[in-house]
Amino acid sequence: MRKRIKVLSIFGTRPEAIKMAPVIKELESHPDSINSRVVVTAQHREMLDQVLRVFSLQPDYDLAVMRPGQDLFDVTEAVLRGLKNILAREEPDMILVQGDTTTTFAGALAAFYCRIPVGHVEAGLRTYEKYAPFPEEVNRVLTSHLADLHFAPTATARDALLKEGIDGERIVVTGNPVIDALHLAVKRPFRLEPELERVFQENRRVLLLTTHRRENLGGPLREVYRALRGLLDRYRDLGVIFPVHRNPAVRREVERVLAGVERVYLTEPLDYLPFINVMKRAYLVLTDSGGIQEEAPALGKPVLVLREVTERPEAVAAGTAMLVGTGRERVEAEVSRLLEDREAYRRMAEAVNPYGDGNAARRIVQAVLWYFNRGPAPEAFCPPAVGV
Ligand code: UD1
Ligand code: UDP
Repeated sequence: MRKRIKVLSIFGTRPEAIKMAPVIKELESHPDSINSRVVVTAQHREMLDQVLRVFSLQPDYDLAVMRPGQDLFDVTEAVLRGLKNILAREEPDMILVQGDTTTTFAGALAAFYCRIPVGHVEAGLRTYEKYAPFPEEVNRVLTSHLADLHFAPTATARDALLKEGIDGERIVVTGNPVIDALHLAVKRPFRLEPELERVFQENRRVLLLTTHRRENLGGPLREVYRALRGLLDRYRDLGVIFPVHRNPAVRREVERVLAGVERVYLTEPLDYLPFINVMKRAYLVLTDSGGIQEEAPALGKPVLVLREVTERPEAVAAGTAMLVGTGRERVEAEVSRLLEDREAYRRMAEAVNPYGDGNAARRIVQAVLWYFNRGPAPEAFCPPAVGV
């Protein structure tokens, strides 16, 4: 019998866990050919553990790197050091990383130092702005040049990689497993806290807000929160649900501007299933998140993106997402337009799904098997797929 391929998945934050969960389930469904091992860096702690629970993931190793108020040096150093011994002990045939966090980049770098092939999930996203998002844009570029197998979610991402001289033979267009996770999640039962349920009952329209980008910390977030206060004064039927990221720098601004404001419901980060369901019921989404830019279009929710540039142009092109930056006036104007102009709202609320068809994990694992000459290459993902 041929030796099993040992694949070691490395991730550490909430969004990486959500997107890797379907991939790990798929790896585990090939026990005869794949030995799947999992390392969490725990760059996030509580927010990572929430996802591990939802998808019943049991890591083989936990580096427990998170420290309150950690900076980029802290995380990079701790991930590299933590992985050194594990890679030496496990000797995987390939490691998988996802996305653009410090865990992603440091994981790929550690594998490169050990001459272990790297597979990169969600490869090829680009804004071409070095500091936006920071440090994610550069993390992605560096990870692409460390990787040996690139799972591009869309044709746009594949083209970006080709432009940078990445070998086309090593790029597979798979769709994004965020949509696989959404498919799994929308079917599952969930419980919404009574306070959240009340927000939907007491307000005609609910806006879902999330913020956390490093380049938005401080002044830009303050502007956004002030815009929100203006909107709440003007629209008495508007309620806001705001699951606040655990980053203390985010919490400081929220406390300053939004604490105690009527019709703003501040909560701890929600578990993935209630979060998805709040998004499904919300009137619109205001966010600087990457993953939420992919989920909202699939759920038919207009999403206003609190950034100047995005690496996810597909939903903007399709008309469900709009870049609004963080300036108070612009945010107020664009939210007002969607609250007042039914036709503008309707145009943005059409479910489109340029990011996946729910089969990304299957293609990713097939591509891994193909890389090791254990099967044919997968068919490329080809949109459009509508809704979830
Ligand atoms: C990180 C990623 C970002 C990703 C985001 C997803 C980097 C540099 N940033 O940003 O790309 O979009 O995660 O949310 O990789 N904290 C907790 N508990 C948690 C999580 C965070 O207390 O479960 C607090 C800690 O004080 C921690 C701080 O948040 O030090 C910042 O966490 P960190 O992972 O460094 O940055 P994020 O802003 O979360
Ligand atoms: N999410 C969640 N609970 C929340 C907010 C977000 O489960 O309270 C999920 C969301 O569905 C998406 C992911 O977290 O899949 C996005 O993570 P985040 O915005 O932290 O990171 P990014 O995608 O910007 O890297």
